[in-house]
Amino acid sequence: MLLLLFFFGINAVLAVVAQAPCIELNDGNKIPVLALGTGRGTAKETETLEDVRNAVLWAIEAGYRHIDTAAVYDDEEQVGQGIADAIAKGIVTREQIFVTTKLWNDKHARDQVVPALRESLKRLGLDYVDLYLIHFPVSTKSDGSPDNIDYLDTWKGMEEARQLGLTRSIGVSNFNLSQIDRLVANCQVRPAVNEFEVNPTLTQEPLVSHCHSLGIAVMSYSPFGFLVSRKRDDAPPPKYDDPTLGAMAAKYGKTPGQIVLRYLIERGLIPIPKSTNKKRLAENINIFDFQLTEDEVATISRFNKNTRVISIDAWKDYPNYPF
Ligand SMILES: NC(=O)c1ccc[n+]([C@@H]2O[C@H](COP(=O)([O-])OP(=O)(O)OC[C@H]3O[C@@H](n4cnc5c(N)ncnc54)[C@H](OP(=O)(O)O)[C@@H]3O)[C@@H](O)[C@H]2O)c1
Repeated sequence: MLLLLFFFGINAVLAVVAQAPCIELNDGNKIPVLALGTGRGTAKETETLEDVRNAVLWAIEAGYRHIDTAAVYDDEEQVGQGIADAIAKGIVTREQIFVTTKLWNDKHARDQVVPALRESLKRLGLDYVDLYLIHFPVSTKSDGSPDNIDYLDTWKGMEEARQLGLTRSIGVSNFNLSQIDRLVANCQVRPAVNEFEVNPTLTQEPLVSHCHSLGIAVMSYSPFGFLVSRKRDDAPPPKYDDPTLGAMAAKYGKTPGQIVLRYLIERGLIPIPKSTNKKRLAENINIFDFQLTEDEVATISRFNKNTRVISIDAWKDYPNYPF
């Protein structure tokens, strides 16, 4: 290693860490096509918020340049600390990191959006985020009971936040096809991104192709689907030991998890794998040195059961419930 450093300089050696390429959003900004998830819905009981700070630093060391968080994850502070640690270590500058965060449902009134983003920025320790999303089209009061704020009003607040330079890009999450159409027909600034669940058991072809046809990039959450434990007895295939994924993994010298992440990349999506484990988060970005064939992509898509990992049944009678 020392010899390599001597001949090629430190940058050339650091450049061998895995990096996700960027694509251009419809507003001209660039987004890395893989993000570290920091939502802790899948966290083990033993995981702490400090683990998020470490995971963010390890992820940046491993080559990640995109971190996904949200006000409701209650970890924006630790995400910001992890980013600050990486900047202090000289691994990246702020400009080289793409940070996504999200507006929670109880801040949907137009005049609440900018203050909510300022609060997120304070917790993150940043002057701006790269992408701000409306987390759900559903609005609630602060006690979680249903509200009925039109997301078109919320969007006006999002446009103001962008105008103020508090976020470079704006988008939505968990919007269905007709909600996307209604927003696109009634906005000044078109959403750059829709973030929703996509994995082998929820392939979402119609919503993905509709968003893409409108120039809206898709970030796919819960990318591993039921490959990983979701504490459900009725979990549909594929599981981690699925033989079809196993054969593809053996062919490419990869793991089943990497095959699924690559499947999402082949479909033009931006997967958001969550891990607080140093080895697994490095594994999850090591997917840019191989490609699946069209047939392999089609084979994985045939696992589709339209079954969600994330359901929000408690809100099914709320206005604008999307699923
Ligand atoms: N917009 C939304 O409404 C929304 C909803 C849900 C999620 N999200 C975002 O999407 C992210 C990911 O979703 P998710 O957390 O539901 O699911 P996920 O990333 O599909 O799965 C995470 C689980 O997989 C494990 N894991 C990670 N890498 C692995 C590997 N290589 N091999 C085996 N197991 C592995 C993790 O454990 P370890 O940590 O122990 O590795 C964790 O238990 C969230 O963190 C959040 O940022 C957004």
